[in-house]
Amino acid sequence: MLLRVLPLLCLMSASVPTAAGSGDSVESRIAALLDEMTLTEKVGQMSQVHAEGANAPDELGDAIRAGRIGSVINNVDLDVVSELQRIAVEESRLGIPLLFGRDVIHGFGTIFPIPLGQAATWNPELVREGARLAAREAATRGINWTFAPMMDITRDPRWGRIAESLGEDPYLASELAVAMVEGFQGEDLAAPGSIAATAKHFAGYGESESGRDYATTNIPENELRNVHLRPFRAAVDAGVSTVMPSFSDLNGVPASANAFLMRQVLRDEWGFDGFVVSDWRSIDQLSIHGLTADDRESALAAATAGINMEMAGSTYIEHLPALVEEGRIDIATIDAAVAEILRTKFELGLFERPWADLDKLPPTGAADALAASRQTALQSVVMLSNEGSVLPLDADRLSSLAVIGPLADAPYEQLGTWVFDGDPSLSVTALDGLRDLLGDRVDIRHVAAMETSRSRDTAPFDEAVAAAEQSDAVVLFLGEESILSGEAHSRADIGLPGAQAELVRRVRATGKPVVAVILAGRPLTLADIVDDVDALLFAWHPGTMGGAAIADILFGVVSPSGKLPVTFPRMVGQIPIYYSQKNTGKPPTPDTVVHIDDIDPRAPQTSLGMTAFHLDAGYTPQWEFGFGLSYASFEYSDLAVSNAAPAIGEVFTVSASVTNTGDVTADEVVQLYVRDLVGNVTRPVRELKGFRRVTLEPGETRRIDFELGADDLAFYGRDNTLIVEPGDFHVWIGGSSSATLRGEFRLVSAN
Ligand code: GLC
Repeated sequence: MLLRVLPLLCLMSASVPTAAGSGDSVESRIAALLDEMTLTEKVGQMSQVHAEGANAPDELGDAIRAGRIGSVINNVDLDVVSELQRIAVEESRLGIPLLFGRDVIHGFGTIFPIPLGQAATWNPELVREGARLAAREAATRGINWTFAPMMDITRDPRWGRIAESLGEDPYLASELAVAMVEGFQGEDLAAPGSIAATAKHFAGYGESESGRDYATTNIPENELRNVHLRPFRAAVDAGVSTVMPSFSDLNGVPASANAFLMRQVLRDEWGFDGFVVSDWRSIDQLSIHGLTADDRESALAAATAGINMEMAGSTYIEHLPALVEEGRIDIATIDAAVAEILRTKFELGLFERPWADLDKLPPTGAADALAASRQTALQSVVMLSNEGSVLPLDADRLSSLAVIGPLADAPYEQLGTWVFDGDPSLSVTALDGLRDLLGDRVDIRHVAAMETSRSRDTAPFDEAVAAAEQSDAVVLFLGEESILSGEAHSRADIGLPGAQAELVRRVRATGKPVVAVILAGRPLTLADIVDDVDALLFAWHPGTMGGAAIADILFGVVSPSGKLPVTFPRMVGQIPIYYSQKNTGKPPTPDTVVHIDDIDPRAPQTSLGMTAFHLDAGYTPQWEFGFGLSYASFEYSDLAVSNAAPAIGEVFTVSASVTNTGDVTADEVVQLYVRDLVGNVTRPVRELKGFRRVTLEPGETRRIDFELGADDLAFYGRDNTLIVEPGDFHVWIGGSSSATLRGEFRLVSAN
């Protein structure tokens, strides 16, 4: 314990010897430091070093003392982090504190649903609280910087990193990304428990070709601006401290050397004053991309393009000093890069308090964190089907329940991807949750039936079938284990892995009521089981408390209220499929009902409908963006637009009434969509422009108002400038992107 306390006491007493005192402005303190720093010390601030393991102080101590390291990544051992910081603050020449970075993506020790699951809550307040609690836990290990939120827009569930994303829609992703930034950074970045956030991966990573991670992305500037840049702009406007480029080659220039992104857009257009950290060795990958010949040229390209800090590589510390001395990069460029890094360190309060106030931070796994994780999981679960209202199950009418499948009792798997510091011992699995909820009221028969979600051994299915036959109902827990999504874990076939569909069929054959709960890191194609189950819940990877949440929903303690943040395709061949698509010149219509099996071989060439659809899949998804069922039902009525002809710049409201026509209290996420019928560039057939989660008692009607103004209707036109055009608009309010309650307005030029 003494080791743990000693550095802390040192640090708390240490005041950093800087040229400008703490009473001066941050900018003057930055300037004073820059005046004192050597070129090596400046480039040292631009270098982040990987430092796992207890030997880090021995391995890195001398480099830190020499001012050659500005940040450390991936050490969460409090004693080690304390010692590294002590060395920096007390033994380096200028005492500049270190940044300690870690991927705190959806929780630290207490894990929340994966970000895609959090997006399914459509609840910024809940998402903000989750980030705040994650930051608080991370700070107890000396972490003061997270590489989150990830806000890449993607319409490709083959891509493993969709799990980390906030879905397909720029508006929803923007709202939730801002909530996460605010949660991580708090009201005061220097307060105990606040950590710097990172907007990543800038930009367009979600368009990786064929959903293969790290693959090429070709995105027209107009699409980049109207879709992919929007969450990043929102995060920058919300004060995010740092930005991280994607690994991707974007239109021929990898993001880590892309001055259009890092200087023109981020600095010149948006006025971002934080700093940019590369992705893991993404700078030395520039020569692998074939943009540069070697590390020296990569360092030059990245620093020139505006990458302030190099993560885990060494091209900066090895080559930038010489490049400056040769005049190939101006010292002003280095000074600007270092100033932006120092600004974050000052804003974190590290010069006054190099260390979080541990005595003000609860330990990992505190009750409030577990409760928040459970609440988030509860609101993230999406009910996709419920034939004959088989759900909620009734504990008073069931005497036995078969709980079957590889993910029913998988404390690690339910945490999902990017859980470096997750603690599976805290997990409440679905089996745990059901046992806790039901006690001895219902006899639970548990059969895993599969060793992993990919198992093809059907021999154990006999035991599962027997359990089903002996029980009143069956709940199947299927999906993907954690490793099948996340970085570098893309799938070309996004069906249920292994023999899971066969297991469903075998259990279905018993004739018992069958509910399937899917735990996965991405949308899956479920057409081959959807008709073999009576009800389907999609729980994503729900995190530490996922099992308790799922049990509460299965037995009606709470109604499901999640809504899809991403479209679910019928078949992988439909990808990309998303709600906010362009109309095309030959859009399919509901009478475009053709199936490949029904086609007469001699059908005339043009007789099948000459529109944008697939002969074997049609054109609609399995489930659309914004979709989610409830134990209640909701009706929408009386859509009204406060001004049928608003002038550009005028704020007006669109409102409608929503009524809970069911017999249980439940949440509904009310959604507002807009269509700009004619534009300088073609516009999507619908765009989300507002949402509100409301709790309604049975029979209760609530009037929901949404304000719309010029910013909501602006888009980047043909010349890639932001414009608002007069013209006709349709507007919908409802419970999904296929809402039918429609109104319209005509936007007129301001006089
Ligand atoms: C990874 C990821 C990035 C992460 C970083 C540090 O490769 O692309 O999202 O923050 O490296 O772990």
